[in-house]
Amino acid sequence: MDGPTDAFRDVMRSFPTGVTVVGSAHGGEKRGMTVNSFTSVSLNPPTVLICITKESGCHPVIENSGVFSVSVLAENQSELSSKFADHDEVDVHRFVGVDHRVGVLGVPLVDGAIAELECAVEDSLGSGDHTVFVGKVMSAKVTSDEFPLVFHRSGYAKVG
Ligand SMILES: Cc1cc2nc3c(=O)[nH]c(=O)nc-3n(C[C@H](O)[C@H](O)[C@H](O)COP(=O)(O)O)c2cc1C
Repeated sequence: MDGPTDAFRDVMRSFPTGVTVVGSAHGGEKRGMTVNSFTSVSLNPPTVLICITKESGCHPVIENSGVFSVSVLAENQSELSSKFADHDEVDVHRFVGVDHRVGVLGVPLVDGAIAELECAVEDSLGSGDHTVFVGKVMSAKVTSDEFPLVFHRSGYAKVG
């Protein structure tokens, strides 16, 4: 297959996922973006992966800092998801005006998320226009029992 076909896009749109904000920080610069390519890789040791477009402003920050956070968004956080995916905000610090904290690894974590991880990059694999960052989980916390935000067919949905 050369290039993304409509069929490929349709298949990926059919697969419902949760929605996360991935954050990283380097040299005083905080970056964040919306990510749904988040999955568990290994339980022992706890390891996850995220796939990040090479064009993203987050990409060099994760590469240079070697750390990232994952905040799993709650069902009432779709506006936050849109904000962290907004290309007009590429060069701005998206965390401005967003309630957040800095975790043990120095990475930003979104307040109001239902769960959060902090990870140290263990490995990375370039594939096409994305990089797969494999992260060793250094901190993991469930922060609320709200329902998660769901992304399906290019729109937001709710569990149930
Ligand atoms: C629900 C949703 C999920 C997304 N998942 C990913 C993803 O897994 N990887 C990725 O590189 N971009 C993903 N994006 C797109 C990025 O959030 C978007 O391109 C963002 O602007 C990139 O950050 P930047 O503007 O700082 O480069 C997703 C967008 C949305 C709305």
